[in-house]
Amino acid sequence: MNKKIPCLDLKGQHLQVKKEIFEAFEKVYEKTAFSGGPFVEEFEKAFANFCGVKYAVGLNNGTTALHLAMLALGIGAGDEVIIPANTFIATAWGVSHAGATPVFVDCNKDTWEIDITKIEEKITPKTKAVIGVHLYGQPFDIDGVAAICKKHNLKFIEDAAQAQGARYKGKSIGGFGEMACFSFYPGKNLGAAGEAGGITTNSESYANHIKSLRNHGMTVRYYHDEIGYNYRMGGLEGASLNIKLKYLPEWNKRRQSIAKRYLSEVKNPAIKMQAQPEWAESVFHLFVVTTEDKDRFVKYLDDNNIIAAFHYPVPCHLQKAYSHLRYKEGDCPNAEYLASHCVSLPMYAELTDEEVQHVIDVLNRY
Ligand SMILES: Cc1ncc(COP(=O)(O)O)c(C=O)c1O
Repeated sequence: MNKKIPCLDLKGQHLQVKKEIFEAFEKVYEKTAFSGGPFVEEFEKAFANFCGVKYAVGLNNGTTALHLAMLALGIGAGDEVIIPANTFIATAWGVSHAGATPVFVDCNKDTWEIDITKIEEKITPKTKAVIGVHLYGQPFDIDGVAAICKKHNLKFIEDAAQAQGARYKGKSIGGFGEMACFSFYPGKNLGAAGEAGGITTNSESYANHIKSLRNHGMTVRYYHDEIGYNYRMGGLEGASLNIKLKYLPEWNKRRQSIAKRYLSEVKNPAIKMQAQPEWAESVFHLFVVTTEDKDRFVKYLDDNNIIAAFHYPVPCHLQKAYSHLRYKEGDCPNAEYLASHCVSLPMYAELTDEEVQHVIDVLNRY
């Protein structure tokens, strides 16, 4: 294959829905509904329905979703929130932006998800919540985390930024915790034409509080009940998400069939993949593998026209931004191993069968 295969290419999907989305943009312009408004409300209803929850609240990105989830729980200075060390850093930002401290816990060495056997040792009198992350689109051990939260009277939040449409024991993620935080960044399985995010919840009071917080802390125009934020979703983003949500099940299915082929047809013991517990139905936002000699592997892929990416090369607890928390190498060994050995393979619904076959052949020849 002469063509380079990137890890992600948004062009194919964009071309597929461009006409419909541009028609929707016309409507947004006709109504000048650029900030919040009917297109965002339509998406909120449709997305709540998609996740099987009562409420969805549209926001401007996934990081602010995590921030507002913390505020809605009353979490702030002096509080601690337990999160996995191997996640995109924004999970931790949500906690830090609220003034609280993220406490990093290692991942399971096979599923690469939060290790439920290591959570309890991190609980202190300051701990208020646990945020589990459905990493790479795969649900984590929700029952395991929920049971610990129940036992210790902690709030439980899902970071579902990477997992729109994933299922846990047959049920859509997004309604298991107090709230679930989503990103609709363009590269996500459901990505807006712009920056966007949102929260799903079954609690009317959380939903109303988030709606107020995203809109300058007001429910009555120009009367501000608390310090608020401008975290609203834009109308163009809402309109594009409305169109793309219709296609999401089909796109997720295609990702799943590509992943199934990678999982069953790559038979190279030098390449390890994320374990797939029977209760988790991943939507494969990313397809990450590990291999001992990462540099050699990545060069080999590149020589064979496969462009890899890395999610994520430095675990959160060792990021410079958190050096004041004084974590050190060895504190979360599984997350550290993953960070220094992870390679993301091409994964998006528009990959052709020929491209998928090429990736499989190249991996088997390594
Ligand atoms: C696990 C996780 N949490 C949170 C976020 C933050 O979302 P956003 O980029 O929309 O702010 C992302 C997205 O990149 C993510 O992957």
